Amino acid sequence: MLEEEYDQRRQLPPHLRPAPPAEPGFEYEIRPATAEDLPNVREIYNHYVLNSSVTFDEKPLTLVALRKKFAVATKLAMPYLVAENPRGNLLGVAWVFPWQGDTASRKVVEVSIYLGPAATGKGLGKVLLERLLADAKTAGIREVIAVIADRGAEASIQMHKKFGFKEIGRMGKVGYKFDRWLGTVMLQKKLR
Ligand SMILES: CC(C)(COP(=O)(O)OP(=O)(O)OC[C@H]1O[C@@H](n2cnc3c(N)ncnc32)[C@H](O)[C@@H]1OP(=O)(O)O)[C@@H](O)C(=O)NCCC(=O)NCCS
Repeated sequence: MLEEEYDQRRQLPPHLRPAPPAEPGFEYEIRPATAEDLPNVREIYNHYVLNSSVTFDEKPLTLVALRKKFAVATKLAMPYLVAENPRGNLLGVAWVFPWQGDTASRKVVEVSIYLGPAATGKGLGKVLLERLLADAKTAGIREVIAVIADRGAEASIQMHKKFGFKEIGRMGKVGYKFDRWLGTVMLQKKLR
């Protein structure tokens, strides 16, 4: 046998070869948002403004408007969280905001949660919502309301129900986007 033929045979059979390096896992850290995160928060949110009916907003959110809302949330010590991967990319955002603005119902909040499209369906939504609700409870919030589009947001409806949100009502045909009427499903969860 020629020497080069011998060398070829010395390659290990597949079951003995070392495994290829594992794909990087879906890793992230959840932390309070800072003002520096807002351009990336805006990008995630505006993806759904432009491509879905999960928000009734039709015009992209401006950075000015987002900064204003973030300032109010921060002043009222409302939890506002982001999930970030080890490379520093924002994967998702979740916040609560007083249900009727800064009024008598400030202990009643509306929840919002948006993940970048590539980060959905991997369990991050559950982790982020769980931490948001825990932080909201610590902040003294009593009731959390979710107002969810009745079309195209099934994942959100199911996830909120999983966390004990109870359906409290529906409004039919209160939005019109992408040439179809949309309603909302309202869910509520008592924290205290
Ligand atoms: C809604 C959203 C936050 C959920 O986060 P996620 O990481 O995709 O969801 P998870 O993988 O954590 O799954 C959470 C639960 O949601 C439900 N769910 C997830 N994907 C679903 C799907 N395609 N269909 C139906 N239910 C689904 C399941 O109940 C799931 O729990 P389970 O895995 O124990 O069965 C995320 O998909 C998202 O950002 N979607 C687009 C924006 C949006 O709809 N935001 C909410 C506006 S009200």
